[in-house]
Amino acid sequence: MPDNKSLADDKKLISEAEKARKNAYAPYSKFSVGAALLSRSGKVYTGANLENSSFGQTVCAERLALYKAVSAGEKDFKKIAIVAPGTKPVTPCGICRQALFEFSPELEVICANLKGRVKKYTLRELLPYPFKYEKKKTRK
Ligand code: THU
Repeated sequence: MPDNKSLADDKKLISEAEKARKNAYAPYSKFSVGAALLSRSGKVYTGANLENSSFGQTVCAERLALYKAVSAGEKDFKKIAIVAPGTKPVTPCGICRQALFEFSPELEVICANLKGRVKKYTLRELLPYPFKYEKKKTRK
């Protein structure tokens, strides 16, 4: 069972993701997403989706938060909150799951919609068979 402190943490993280969502750049999909990533060191890094007229360049809110954090020197994360519209809370796309797994396989994933519906997962549940690059001295 989660303790009171971590529930309070979760609410704070959801509200940070909600705030970040306001800076989404989503003129094509009109689907604004916000994310807030909590590092082990206790800092919160936020992100929002950023689209482009060349659609393939789009970056999801989750990855943007992750890239900001890693480029600020963080490599270990505890939780991520994602806020998006819709009747059901949105879960991260496959690319974001793999990107997050690279740094924190034990990440907790908190998904919320705008009506206050919340679903919690572990990253391991969402990505049971991640890709792992096997380092070899020589490769053919
Ligand atoms: N998107 C996210 O930012 N995060 C998700 O978890 C799902 C999808 C964005 C990408 C794109 O800008 C828009 O939502 C529609 O796919």
